[in-house]
Amino acid sequence: MTKQDIFDAYSDYIMPTYTKMPYIFVKGKGMKVYDIDAKQYLDFFPGWGVGNVGHCHPAVMSAVRDQVGKLIHLPNNYYHSAQAKLAKEIIRNSFDGKVFFSNSGAEANEAAIKLARAYGSKFATPKYEILTFENAFHGRTLATITATGQKKYQKGFEPLVEGFVTNLPLNDFGALTCAVSEKTVAVLLEVVQGEGGINVVTEDFITAVRKLCDEKKMLLIIDEVQTGLGRTGKMFGYQNYQIQPDIITLAKSLGGGLPIGCMLAKREIADTLQPGMHASTFGGSPIVCKAALGVFKAIVGDKMLANVAKMSPYLFGKLKNLSAKHKAIKEVRGVGLMVGIELNIKGKEIVEECAKRGLLINCTHDYVLRLMPALNVTKRQIDAAVRILDGVLKGMD
Ligand SMILES: Cc1ncc(COP(=O)(O)O)c(C=O)c1O
Repeated sequence: MTKQDIFDAYSDYIMPTYTKMPYIFVKGKGMKVYDIDAKQYLDFFPGWGVGNVGHCHPAVMSAVRDQVGKLIHLPNNYYHSAQAKLAKEIIRNSFDGKVFFSNSGAEANEAAIKLARAYGSKFATPKYEILTFENAFHGRTLATITATGQKKYQKGFEPLVEGFVTNLPLNDFGALTCAVSEKTVAVLLEVVQGEGGINVVTEDFITAVRKLCDEKKMLLIIDEVQTGLGRTGKMFGYQNYQIQPDIITLAKSLGGGLPIGCMLAKREIADTLQPGMHASTFGGSPIVCKAALGVFKAIVGDKMLANVAKMSPYLFGKLKNLSAKHKAIKEVRGVGLMVGIELNIKGKEIVEECAKRGLLINCTHDYVLRLMPALNVTKRQIDAAVRILDGVLKGMD
């Protein structure tokens, strides 16, 4: 197919749900991707949060290659070792409990919402309401767009799902306390809001939320779909704080590019979901579990958390220098290698111009440039990216 054939086929046969950029990629390796004309790009937003270990990491490739000729899929009424090993690996790196495997982040959150409701249904006065926050993002299914609480994702899909309070300002404990009632069963949040513009939860807030959840027998659910697997410098984002959640949800980078999601719940509540109450045909198939084991191997084996500890201050330092130079930059914020550059102007044009110059980044919430490079990014790659961004911003000031 020629480039034009591909563009035409998309416009004729694929639903226009995505705003697309006119690039056709054919290959990826580490921090780099290559287009159909063999032009090389530095990917500072690999896979929309999927690429924590970079494109085609050898540990992921060899795990998948090894499994693909043996058994690709197995329904969940049977056993296989990859799922067992992966569950143990996730728990070893977080907290004791049990997992449910899904295919995506939205499905992991759906599972968490169902578990919370099933847990709440056992109280003398059943509890079902879930509290979420302004600018949160939890997925695109009906329940998760409701939990997301941003009108733009909900418009046209009403009526939404009952049982959510979604307009709470992040880091405002007073507002949260006012919203709690005897119906409240859980608080659901991201410790760094990704789609919402890289907004970081404060230590005081999360500590107070944890205490309140304990007092009121509510569950604290942390959506780690974007913050998980080393993105913030710890294996999971909540580990930057002195708290432990009751449930975490994972997806995106867990499969190193293959679709897998997961909900981990503390042991005391995990058995709330009994046989027949929840299921997924593909969830946790041998091939995706092997890929995810490859991701853990890559993060640990390549000492990626140590690299984030070094590269994070380096990148933030470079960006702070940029911000001193360019009027267009309002603020630089984030944790680890989850970085937001808030602008005074819309970021779309900057993203497009960077891509033309060989740098892939993202803009969220119209005004926030988002950089989430692979966790093994090097100083040279950071220098190259910042140089391109600097050049593009020069034309915008
Ligand atoms: C924090 C968070 N939760 C959930 C999701 C939804 O994940 P998925 O697209 O895999 O359903 C996303 C996707 O961007 C996300 O960032």
